[in-house]
Amino acid sequence: MKLGKILGIEYPIIQGGMAQISDGQFAAKVSEAGALGVIGSGSMTGEELREQIRICKSLTKKPFGVNLLLLNPHSDHMADVVVEEEVPVVTTGAGSPAKYIDRWHKANIKIFPVVPNPTLAMRMEKYGVDGVIVEGNEAGGHIGDMTSMTLIPQTKDKIDIPIIAAGGIASGRQLLAAQTLGAVGAQIGTLFLSSIECPIHEKYKNLLIRSKYNNITVIGQIAGLPTRVIKNEMARNYIMEEKKGKDKMELEKYTLGALKTAAESGDLKKGSFMAGLSVSQIEEIRPVKEILEKLMEEYREELGKICNEYNEYKD
Ligand SMILES: Cc1cc2nc3c(=O)[nH]c(=O)nc-3n(C[C@H](O)[C@H](O)[C@H](O)COP(=O)(O)O)c2cc1C
Repeated sequence: MKLGKILGIEYPIIQGGMAQISDGQFAAKVSEAGALGVIGSGSMTGEELREQIRICKSLTKKPFGVNLLLLNPHSDHMADVVVEEEVPVVTTGAGSPAKYIDRWHKANIKIFPVVPNPTLAMRMEKYGVDGVIVEGNEAGGHIGDMTSMTLIPQTKDKIDIPIIAAGGIASGRQLLAAQTLGAVGAQIGTLFLSSIECPIHEKYKNLLIRSKYNNITVIGQIAGLPTRVIKNEMARNYIMEEKKGKDKMELEKYTLGALKTAAESGDLKKGSFMAGLSVSQIEEIRPVKEILEKLMEEYREELGKICNEYNEYKD
């Protein structure tokens, strides 16, 4: 798959930026293991981001990325920081990167916005980005309306720049399926949460192992910020209040800082344990390298089977 070549990495895999979780150290470990590690800057200031980038650069010489959420009030400062710190790849979400694109390209930064539908992908192509990450709503965290099965091919039919598939990918079979639908590689979040190196609380990791697809729910549907999480007291209370018609501000009391609570203290009642529908496929906590090797081994095996079938079919 082409993504490895585009980014100068071993495997065609990007570790999705995860606010409060994927810090400089974790991103460096993922990059060292052969994928693209990405620092999630969501809750940081510009200077906090700079510190994490420097930590990452001190731990790896391999390419890495920064995820910028463009609604963050520090975005303009962060846009400067990624140039000053010579970050090779930027992924963006929650807003348009248009005003930064020329400057980032002059600094040799590759830009990959995360989009939930083909219309936004087409707009990003017009702006001149290097590729788009299309995120299906199987994903953990904030989600759009389309599934990966419909989103990848419908985007492929509309744009010529590389497409990276995100949402629901946690095995070689799913990576191969994404390639068949038109992607050059995958962005993965949920599966990386289960790695030994991921700096979340052990209770979060154990919850991932115990959870199946039917333990997953979506909060924030009515408030307009749908978010895929593992069902717990926080999620149940949120949905109950949402159904009663409570407004955004009142609902925020459940979610404000709740991902941080989940990641840092593993509070099973109050935390927001974001995870996607691939959670059923997580069976153990393993090193990032092993996760990637197993995934690619399965990818090659499945590709081989399909090639064999093709040869039989041809004759
Ligand atoms: C805990 C968690 C936090 C996330 N935070 C962010 C974020 O800060 N910015 C972002 O663009 N995407 C975020 N995402 C989405 C991931 O980067 C990635 O696109 C997604 O997890 C891929 O789908 P998957 O979970 O099915 O692998 C988050 C996902 C999870 C599970």
